Amino acid sequence: MNPKYRKTVIAGNWKMNLLPSQLRDYADGLKALLGKEHWCEAVLCVPALMAIPLGRALRGCRVSVGVQDVSDRDMGAYTGEVAAAQLRDAGVKYVIVGHSERRAYHGETDELIGRKLRKALEEGMTPILCVGETLPQRSAGTEKDVVRAQVKTALLGLDAAAMKKVVLAYEPVWAIGTGHTASPAQAQDMCREIRAVLRERFDARTARAVSVLYGGSMNPRNAQELLSQPDVDGGLIGGASLDPGKFYQILEAAKP
Ligand code: 13P
Repeated sequence: MNPKYRKTVIAGNWKMNLLPSQLRDYADGLKALLGKEHWCEAVLCVPALMAIPLGRALRGCRVSVGVQDVSDRDMGAYTGEVAAAQLRDAGVKYVIVGHSERRAYHGETDELIGRKLRKALEEGMTPILCVGETLPQRSAGTEKDVVRAQVKTALLGLDAAAMKKVVLAYEPVWAIGTGHTASPAQAQDMCREIRAVLRERFDARTARAVSVLYGGSMNPRNAQELLSQPDVDGGLIGGASLDPGKFYQILEAAKP
């Protein structure tokens, strides 16, 4: 991480886990550990229905509320969808777009992900754009081509000023929920590659300003080494974020 130029972001992704009735205990546990100190951007991306109660439960501590998806449409007749304007009004600050689980189970394309990203930006929220290759793609040696294409397509039409408001997350699919964390060198290599794409597509200043996170089986044991890589500016954490104690340990690993 390079706090001189960019924000360190530690974001939990609860996925479809935990119950609304468990929020209070979680938030109390995290608040007790956090105290008043603040050293990085801490975010919890929860199912949309938990955004408002989580915001209330976290009042008084500097943890931002995020969600895991957003509609690519404006408010209107789209049954089951949640609009960016509704999320913003509910106090949501971050929106994950393009998670590999949405790509795999909901057929999301880079074009759709790009539209979702722009909706989040229009409402003043920070999109966390997830990219990453599958194991067969890595075995075939195509991982950089895959990730480059994902980044470029999702960012089509964006200007440099808007790009500076986006966070990227490299999440190799083979590392998600498997315990097979990418090595620090693998994480660094791809996060640097992503920054190179931003330099080509925008400019050096923009590339230097955008936070690029790593996600995939990050935990309190491996966080520090991953986060010490120069182009890894934080983490997107699934399983380990479900426990406030573990999430806090990862936040601590991000202390400069
Ligand atoms: P795990 O930390 O459970 O591997 O999940 C990573 C992830 O997909 C975060 O978005």
